[in-house]
Amino acid sequence: MSCYNLCLLGFGNVGRALAELLVKKDEEMREEFGIEWRITGVATRRMGWLASPEGFDLVKLLAGDVVANVEPQPYGVREWLKTARADVLFETTSLNHLTGRPAIDYLRAALEAGAHAITANKGAVVHGYRELSELARNVGKRFFFEATCLDSAPVFSLFRETLPAARLLSFKGIFNSTTTVILEEMEAGKSFEDGVRRAQALGITETDPSQDVDGWDAAVKLCAIANVLMSVPLKLDEIEREGIRGLNTEKVRAARDVGRPFRLVARAARTIDNRVVASVRPEQISGDDPLGAISGTSLMVHFELDMMPGLTVTSHHPNLQSTAYAFARTCNALKAQVNEN
Ligand SMILES: NC(=O)c1ccc[n+]([C@@H]2O[C@H](COP(=O)([O-])OP(=O)(O)OC[C@H]3O[C@@H](n4cnc5c(N)ncnc54)[C@H](OP(=O)(O)O)[C@@H]3O)[C@@H](O)[C@H]2O)c1
Repeated sequence: MSCYNLCLLGFGNVGRALAELLVKKDEEMREEFGIEWRITGVATRRMGWLASPEGFDLVKLLAGDVVANVEPQPYGVREWLKTARADVLFETTSLNHLTGRPAIDYLRAALEAGAHAITANKGAVVHGYRELSELARNVGKRFFFEATCLDSAPVFSLFRETLPAARLLSFKGIFNSTTTVILEEMEAGKSFEDGVRRAQALGITETDPSQDVDGWDAAVKLCAIANVLMSVPLKLDEIEREGIRGLNTEKVRAARDVGRPFRLVARAARTIDNRVVASVRPEQISGDDPLGAISGTSLMVHFELDMMPGLTVTSHHPNLQSTAYAFARTCNALKAQVNEN
């Protein structure tokens, strides 16, 4: 049995859901993977840098008691990782779509400290994928980011592990559930603001919901998938991006009434000269389109490959637990490490 020190940087919706999942899956991790774990570090801007090499009591941590009783230290990320003796960093800080920072710096610090670096933060993938992947390879650790695009549904690992030598030609998807929830509220006659409030109550909006409604979240996911799976360095400003603010309740209801509701659709296609043309914008979806099956918080990506005309992955009504579950891929890396040792 190997015991791993886990550090959580970010302790909001996803960070807390991950902590709860670890408790729930403790037995499976011991029995199936031979892994024991403890949380030795937790940090956010408000909580500060908290480290306990012996491990925090998770029940107290989730109840907020640790924060009340442990004095945060004036560490920076590197000293915090060292004090917590981190084996794995789970990075779940807020999205910065423009630079991916400070998430990239945190993940780099973890790899340089000899820890696996796992993130739910798509900004870090868009702006730091090449740098962090190369660093992870050089230090023999893993940089994983499966939670970034379709919650727990496999996207990156699907290609990495099951689609060797397949060339991705194009993809389209519904990558943002907040906008679907808002549009469905408007279809039911409610206001845009009602929709935002409902999405916030579900815990699915970005820390700043304008990142959802203005199409940034979907564009960043599109960019992450294109960069990783098409190996094309697409930049955010190369994506034609339009959010859902231009739609009013009347227009949204009329589209729904003719059976072609509006959804925020992301598209990317490889050109013959190996560039990628990409867009994120509201489109009316007909019933025979694979994307027509999407409602509520569900997410979908539809791939066209040289080897397969169509491959669709759907995450049906994911919740925060499913997002946290995407981190479970780490168990395979840890198990592989146990076997290597
Ligand atoms: N919610 C979802 O359904 C979902 C799904 C997939 C991926 N994600 C991604 O997961 C990440 C977290 O989402 P969330 O819903 O958990 O957000 P959240 O509830 O707003 O939590 C963000 C956490 O990060 C901390 N934080 C933010 N900036 C920080 C910084 N510079 N340094 C240290 N801590 C910082 C925040 O605490 P302080 O404010 O105290 O610093 C908070 O604990 C985001 O990148 C998001 O895109 C979310």
